[in-house]
Amino acid sequence: MNKAIFKLFRLGLIAAVVLLFPIALSSADRSKKTPAAQGPQSAGEKIFHSNCAMCHNADSTKDKLGPGLQGLFKNKELPKSHKPATEENVRTQIEKGSPHAKPMGMPAFKGKLTPSQIDDLIAYLKTL
Ligand code: HEC
Repeated sequence: MNKAIFKLFRLGLIAAVVLLFPIALSSADRSKKTPAAQGPQSAGEKIFHSNCAMCHNADSTKDKLGPGLQGLFKNKELPKSHKPATEENVRTQIEKGSPHAKPMGMPAFKGKLTPSQIDDLIAYLKTL
């Protein structure tokens, strides 16, 4: 009697493993795919929306509080300082900001964003 129950239990266990294994696999697959599909660019997009979008348009060159950043890296020059539109100059702008610009300054983001967040952000800015 006990043996039969044990057998039944074991069968159930095997059935459960066989049934659940593909589900576990496919959900593991999904969790792997999601961040890869988003990639650094959409991480950068999120960083942009929570730190920059209140002052900068991403889809226009029109000024908001700061200049619109559409085509930032496609132009030769940065919109305000007219420095070359290089990754280095944009990184410096993000890290140091323009605290003394008139009539409106830009805060420095060094210490607020990690270097890898700034990398993600720059990858996103390159897509604009
Ligand atoms: C509080 C508003 C504000 C926020 C937030 C802000 N900026 Fe700015 N940004 C400005 C202003 C104002 C200027 C123009 C400064 C000037 O006249 O030199 C500017 C200028 C710039 C420039 C052009 C610099 C140049 O040399 O022409 C870039 C690029 C830029 N910001 C990127 C960013 C990014 C990326 C973020 C988010 C991490 C950000 N800004 C957050 C207000 C802001």
